[in-house]
Amino acid sequence: MSEQSTIKPVRKAVFPVAGLGTRFLPATKVMPKEMLPINDKPLIQHVFEEAREAGIEEFIFVTGRYKEMLEEHFDFQPELEQTLEARGKDDMLKKVRDSEMPAGSLFLTRQPRPLGLGHAIWCAKKLVGDEPFAVLLPDVLIQGPQGCLKQMMDIYNETGGNILAVEDVPLQETSKYGIVDTGGDTSKSAAIKGLVEKPKPEEAPSTMAAVGRYILQPEVFEHLAAFETGAGGEIQLTDAMAKLIGKQSFQSLTFEGKSYDCGSRLGFIEANIAFGMRDAGIGNAVKEIVKKYATEL
Ligand code: UTP
Repeated sequence: MSEQSTIKPVRKAVFPVAGLGTRFLPATKVMPKEMLPINDKPLIQHVFEEAREAGIEEFIFVTGRYKEMLEEHFDFQPELEQTLEARGKDDMLKKVRDSEMPAGSLFLTRQPRPLGLGHAIWCAKKLVGDEPFAVLLPDVLIQGPQGCLKQMMDIYNETGGNILAVEDVPLQETSKYGIVDTGGDTSKSAAIKGLVEKPKPEEAPSTMAAVGRYILQPEVFEHLAAFETGAGGEIQLTDAMAKLIGKQSFQSLTFEGKSYDCGSRLGFIEANIAFGMRDAGIGNAVKEIVKKYATEL
């Protein structure tokens, strides 16, 4: 049997959406952070589309209190569709239909308390089962020539194992991210030798940060099940992955594109400018607005 035929395909993606979104209060007091819009789509739809482009067939939301709006967003909305049809608003109708999740492909589980990203992923254990899966953080958007998960999938289908999308970040910002140690290997795809969650700049093994896209093997659940707390008193995905390094292959991928942390106010504003400027309909007008405000300063 060739090595390639033993690589199990990645069919499922987990979207942790049970966090409190405290950095964006009061906007996120009632409305889920993942419903914040970038251009004309909520964050969760952007990442759903990225996963769909990568060939994902099953979409698993780890949801929590006050987050029902997220599943509603992907439902069939008969009254809205009828109204748009009657008014001949075909372009809007197309957009609404495109935001529908195919029947039988959305799966929900709950995280009763927001104990951390690792805990949220563990909550999806039964739905993922014994197969590789992707994780997409919905508050991180990635703009590039091709979806980030698709780029990761292309590598995964050759090599298998675990893959983390990484981006070079300023040294003073390492304490916001999980940082990978590639032993100084700066190749586009490098073997990961270690992982540290939110290290201080002086303790960071590199400036390559995991920005919220992962392809993981199911063994990570065994380590998440220990419910050990790490940085910030939260159950961290990074810590569980770190325990598997040496036992399984872990690779970083420096993807083509740029990430936006839309869970922070500045990242959200920057993403709206970046996505707005590239919009076929309003792009030029957005550029004019940006120029206008930049010259007023
Ligand atoms: P973040 O740490 O960015 O989200 O988690 P947060 O905790 O909601 O935000 P702040 O820091 O308080 O502003 C990244 C993703 O993981 C989910 C979040 O909903 C977000 O989409 N998450 C985080 C969970 O589902 N459960 C958790 O316990 C923590």
